[in-house]
Amino acid sequence: EFHKHPRHLALASDGMFPHWDKAQLQRGMQVYKEVCSACHSLNLVAFRDIAELGYTEGQVKSFAKSYDNIPSINPDTGEPATRTGLPSDHFPAPYANETAARAANNNALPPDLSLITKAREDGKNYVYSLITGFQNPPANLPKELQPATGLHYNPYFANLNLAMAPPLADGQVTFADGSPNDLKSMAKDVTAFLVWTAEPKLVKRVWTGWAVFLYLLIFTILAYLSYRNIWAGKE
Ligand code: HEM
Repeated sequence: EFHKHPRHLALASDGMFPHWDKAQLQRGMQVYKEVCSACHSLNLVAFRDIAELGYTEGQVKSFAKSYDNIPSINPDTGEPATRTGLPSDHFPAPYANETAARAANNNALPPDLSLITKAREDGKNYVYSLITGFQNPPANLPKELQPATGLHYNPYFANLNLAMAPPLADGQVTFADGSPNDLKSMAKDVTAFLVWTAEPKLVKRVWTGWAVFLYLLIFTILAYLSYRNIWAGKE
């Protein structure tokens, strides 16, 4: 009864005529990089993929290069090492392994965010509601549902209390294009970005569907007209 259904988040990539708001996706990637990437990996996304958000080849290269912690192997010693990023590398994970991740997060595991808007029911709306939904527990909340030490109350989370502290607050990220950086705007942008990471071909898929539909429609009409033509006067 304390659990809430996600609020609706409208995005350019919604519906039957979707498009990507590339400026928004770039802002969302900035929020991911500056905030979420401290705890969450994005294993399925390669640096070169962000060319689709409107970055040039040069920008992709220097973005990849800005990472100096890509896991690799020292060719001389065979020991684990790190190197700077290449466009073919994926976004690096914040922790070496699950044990390290849990150790830093009150024994909870921050999930990989690549597919999170698909993995959770009503994903896009859920992620947006979750990040904007932290609040004080209501006064009539039974004792056994109150957040234990290190947990945070959030009515959009399935069991009401989660190990993630509110990750975003007003003004936390500054956008180069001067876009609003209140909590809700940043949450929208990062959710839009996570919709893209989970299905980068979404827009193409829908418009391919329209092209197929139009093609079939035209040939259905043609087939009907030729049927009429062939049988004309033959009743
Ligand atoms: C869980 C998003 C930043 C730590 C989650 C979940 C989402 C999410 C969608 C999954 C909830 C579920 O399982 O249904 C984000 C976004 C962030 C962000 C979009 C940036 C805006 C952070 C940061 C930290 C963190 C900075 C660490 C300081 C965690 C942990 C969990 C979690 C530990 C697991 C919680 C639990 O299972 O109790 N986050 N997160 N997150 N996040 Fe984040």
